[in-house]
Amino acid sequence: MVIESGFNEQEERVVSATLVTQDSETEETLRPHRLADYIGQQKAKENLAVFIDAAKGRGESLDHCLLYGPPGLGKTTLAGIIAKEMNVNIRITSGPAIEKPGDLAAIITSLQPGDVLFIDEIHRLSRTVEEILYPAMEDYAVDIIIGKGPSARSIRLDLPRFTLIGATTRAGQISAPLRDRFGVMLRLELYTTDELAEIADRSARILNIPIDPHGALEIAKRSRGTPRIVNRLLRRVRDFAEVKGEGVITAQIADMALKALDIDVLGLDRIDRLMLTSIIKNFGGGPVGLETLAATIGEEAITLEDVYEPYLLQLGFLARTPRGRVTTPKACEHLGLPASGQMTL
Ligand code: ADE
Repeated sequence: MVIESGFNEQEERVVSATLVTQDSETEETLRPHRLADYIGQQKAKENLAVFIDAAKGRGESLDHCLLYGPPGLGKTTLAGIIAKEMNVNIRITSGPAIEKPGDLAAIITSLQPGDVLFIDEIHRLSRTVEEILYPAMEDYAVDIIIGKGPSARSIRLDLPRFTLIGATTRAGQISAPLRDRFGVMLRLELYTTDELAEIADRSARILNIPIDPHGALEIAKRSRGTPRIVNRLLRRVRDFAEVKGEGVITAQIADMALKALDIDVLGLDRIDRLMLTSIIKNFGGGPVGLETLAATIGEEAITLEDVYEPYLLQLGFLARTPRGRVTTPKACEHLGLPASGQMTL
């Protein structure tokens, strides 16, 4: 599995949805391997089940799939499940890891018939690498240039039929020629609290952590719609249960642990609150441009957009308008601030 390396402030947040190194081992253990064990994403799951059954029935490889949505929602997990359900191998890589066209050519020429090639962060492939993918996806062929200068010639190698699964947090950044070559596009949504509680319960069982339903719900409510955060908070709360409680995760222990970690009742951390407070106090509730906001709170615009905003939008605390971001009266109420001049959704 791919492990993102290098730490920055964002990745160290307890409620960060991006993968941090210490998560990866637990994630591996907790990943469901079958569609039937995968909780949530009902629509994507139902559609996938049909496509998989149909492809298997015809004895064909599955069409290329693009999975998109915020980080931490299970795109890699779903790719693994697709491979398992199709009874094929999976090769996992990522856009930034493939630097040269030759790197990608080496990977695709080593695939076996039906294999799944999973490319995470596919929007970060360079244009020259992407161009290798077009004939590979469409004609199952790769064009290789042999030699240099006037004597250079191109030969075409046939590839086995394979399934490319691309994952991205930014479907809008994928070029049209690449996007058009995916037969299946699945959008993953933030999970509901009930689904997250079910995931907390399942993960606790696998990790042998005693948990009561109220404890699972408390963790779920504070996990920003994201299974990866559920599993991370579960481990932190377990520490509190063992040291300050009686080894069982109850609502009370979960609440104590999450308060100690500065995560509020809705799962917002210091940076979420800073973002909202900054719009309210510095920009009169907005609208404020994303770049201006990012500079004010010392974060990158892309991080705010991909990691922080989806949950704040889902909560109805923030709205995107053509003129910039605005906070809502609900956000002010949650933060205990007066709601003067706020937009109502
Ligand atoms: N663990 C992480 N994500 C999951 C999911 N969607 N279903 C079940 N277990 C999970």
